[in-house]
Amino acid sequence: MNRIKIKDKEFTISITGEQIQREVKRVADEINRDLAGKNPLFLSVLNGSFMFTADLMRNITIPCEVTFVKLASYQRATTTGKVKEVLGLSEDISDRTVVIVEDIVDTGLTMERLLETLGTRNPKEIHIATLLVKPEKLRIDLDIKYVAMRIPNDFIVGYGLDYDGFGRNYSNIYTVVSENE
Ligand code: IMP
Repeated sequence: MNRIKIKDKEFTISITGEQIQREVKRVADEINRDLAGKNPLFLSVLNGSFMFTADLMRNITIPCEVTFVKLASYQRATTTGKVKEVLGLSEDISDRTVVIVEDIVDTGLTMERLLETLGTRNPKEIHIATLLVKPEKLRIDLDIKYVAMRIPNDFIVGYGLDYDGFGRNYSNIYTVVSENE
């Protein structure tokens, strides 16, 4: 399928499932090499990273654990800033090597907040593994150690990423077609 329609928007294929699998395997190999002997805890951020997490974990061959969290954002009463609360983290991460597994780092604000929150729980080290980065949009100076693919600043869906809840199910990634195309 080269073109899909979700609600009011048309999307065209930009990264095939085969390309994604190749890059995910490459990232997994890097992690296997770097984190051997560290028993990492993979912390998958739902919903967007469910496919990436599944494919990444299939290629991780070192002893490890995986857990899933959700971020709830709410308006803080005292300021206008949005706070991201980490839901569902029951594991004790103190003195652990943690690998955050994200679908996409866009501005980097979500990741910054997540790092702040996890940092208060005394992990030994935290690494970031993300399927995608939009370098042109990045506003925060993050040390992103594992990146499967860097993409232009266009809205995408598929392979876990959604438009208004839809489109997460596709094994390819699709980019929105601009109105004048
Ligand atoms: P950030 O806080 O700006 O880095 O935003 C990260 C979140 O925005 C991701 O976890 C996604 O849920 C969402 N996001 C950013 N870009 C896209 C996109 O192109 N398609 C779908 N979701 C996106």
